[in-house]
Amino acid sequence: MSTPKNILMLPGDGIGPEVMGEVARIITWMNDKLGSGFVVEQDLVGGSCYDVHGCAVTDATMAKAHAADAVLLGAVGGPKWDNVAREHRPEAGLLRLRKEMDLFANLRPALVFDALIDASTLKPEVVRGLDIMIVRELTAGVYFGQPRGEDVRGGVRYGFDTQIYSQPEIERVARVAFELAKKRRGKVMSVEKANVMESGVFWREIVTALHKAEYPDVTLGHMYADNCAMQLVRNPGQFDVIVTDNLFGDILSDCAAMLTGSLGMLPSASLGARDAKTGKIPAMYEPVHGSAPDIAGQGKANPLATILSHSMMLRYSFDMAAEADRLDQAVQNVLAKGLRTADIMSDGCTLVSTSGMGNAVIKEMEALG
Ligand code: IPM
Ligand code: MG
Repeated sequence: MSTPKNILMLPGDGIGPEVMGEVARIITWMNDKLGSGFVVEQDLVGGSCYDVHGCAVTDATMAKAHAADAVLLGAVGGPKWDNVAREHRPEAGLLRLRKEMDLFANLRPALVFDALIDASTLKPEVVRGLDIMIVRELTAGVYFGQPRGEDVRGGVRYGFDTQIYSQPEIERVARVAFELAKKRRGKVMSVEKANVMESGVFWREIVTALHKAEYPDVTLGHMYADNCAMQLVRNPGQFDVIVTDNLFGDILSDCAAMLTGSLGMLPSASLGARDAKTGKIPAMYEPVHGSAPDIAGQGKANPLATILSHSMMLRYSFDMAAEADRLDQAVQNVLAKGLRTADIMSDGCTLVSTSGMGNAVIKEMEALG
């Protein structure tokens, strides 16, 4: 039996608990069959936490998140909490986890599975074989910049936020992008709006200097964010790794996600810096999709993005590449056999429920043994 691997599971709201339930079953299977040694604790986040504790995440849960080897999160939010004060909205729980765990690098792979090529709204020849990694800065920029708020100036009301980046904040996320590119196709596209924003000019300068000093073998390009959005739908195959700020990364990753056919397929990893003493990298894994309250509790949700987030956890937090490969392959096989949840359904395929998809993945895991 290997050393215990402590996972904090935060299913959250909407479809979060359903899709996380499938990962919980996969973890149980891995413990029973592979002796993986996962120790799982569950807790509340988002609206479901607000309903019980009056806030989107408690201090006690934050302490558990810091102590865990990895956090697995489902999804947060829903119309039920639309009128809750902003600091207690479900999203605030997610933002607190990201900020306080210092998860500055958000890895969002956009991968087109061959079996799902027809699920994309783009032509098959545009998206076939697509494999993009978006590295989104996650703990700074306009999401957290000060000052922010509302003001009355000269009798006129204003609302404002601040886009601000320090040199170390840019360097550390760019470094993650360069390192990933070295293990991929060796290309990084840095994205900002240097044509209109001071922070964009600064971003470009810092990334360029880091490239010259430490990563001359990686091919670096620069693109304005609006052009990048257009290029993603025009010719996505030109991209390998994209590195960008918090807000542009939020928008561009949704765009990249849809190239693959469904948000229901996309995992993500949010990573911090390795602790010099313990060697631990703070990490949280979550699907890119939201809580989809309209289909919650109906067994219709696609659990694959969360299952693939678990696979990223195996790879990045636990050095379990063989197990991650096996899980990824199981997902591919299930899709190749024509099993589909409603969001990726197409002619001639078999419609399955959330748990039907989970069962099929576990069965494939067995078969790949
Ligand atoms: C995401 C989401 C979040 C974000 C929301 C829920 C706060 O859109 O993870 O992409 O804007 O970062
Ligand atoms: Mg988003």
